Amino acid sequence: MLEVKDLHVNYGPVNAVHGVSFAAGESQVTVVLGPNGAGKSTSLRAVAGFHKPRAGTVELDGESISGLPAHKVVRRGMSLVPEGRKIFFPLTVEENLRIGGYTASRASGEKTMAEVYDTFPVLGDRRHSAAGLLSGGEQQMLAFGRALMSQPRIMLMDEPSMGLAPTMIETVMASVKVMVDKGIGILMVEQNADAALELADTVVIVTRGETTWTGTAAEARADKTVVHAMLGEAALDES
Ligand SMILES: Nc1ncnc2c1ncn2[C@@H]1O[C@H](COP(=O)(O)OP(=O)(O)O)[C@@H](O)[C@H]1O
Ligand SMILES: [Mg+2]
Repeated sequence: MLEVKDLHVNYGPVNAVHGVSFAAGESQVTVVLGPNGAGKSTSLRAVAGFHKPRAGTVELDGESISGLPAHKVVRRGMSLVPEGRKIFFPLTVEENLRIGGYTASRASGEKTMAEVYDTFPVLGDRRHSAAGLLSGGEQQMLAFGRALMSQPRIMLMDEPSMGLAPTMIETVMASVKVMVDKGIGILMVEQNADAALELADTVVIVTRGETTWTGTAAEARADKTVVHAMLGEAALDES
């Protein structure tokens, strides 16, 4: 279980995050919603060890991981699927996966790669293709697969559906469901609130650098006026 309390993160003098709290548990999906510039990506990157938080606590299974560098966070069992996927286009699918498994021994890496191909057969079919030749949805699966290579208990995902066609968004959300069913806890930032709420157990809204609302997915749906007010243009569709 991941528990983040009262996170503060600065960029130099700029206080981008000042009071973000959220949690993610095994086999659970926590969806983080909020307008552009609210501090969602900054929070995820800080939790994953890419920025040092100025204040706050980050605990994984009851132990502090606050301020640990990213490669150590990965070893503790949490990996980040970054905004924009950050796939290495000239490398093959398999080479991209190996990068995600660099903390594993060769033997366990090969076994985990076989599991990733089992989970996402399209990656196995394309294993020797340059990653840049994959479709957007396939690239997102590769980003998931690369994160799975470190055998995480918790995965952080930053806008996995970004830039994808609606049918691909469904495929990506179905992939997320497969990982949840394996017991992995997911903390997912999404602009596509409707698709994300289908999977969400808990919803967290981050506005201007702080958590301003937390509730169940059912409460988020029922409380549309609150969600609308906080999200503005990214608000839920009327349905
Ligand atoms: N590398 C950076 N240097 C300085 N300011 C940044 C940097 N990255 C993001 N910011 C600022 O931090 C705030 C939060 O950004 P971000 O975490 O990307 O928001 P979100 O993911 O919610 O859209 C914004 O005001 C943004 O302009
Ligand atoms: Mg972002």
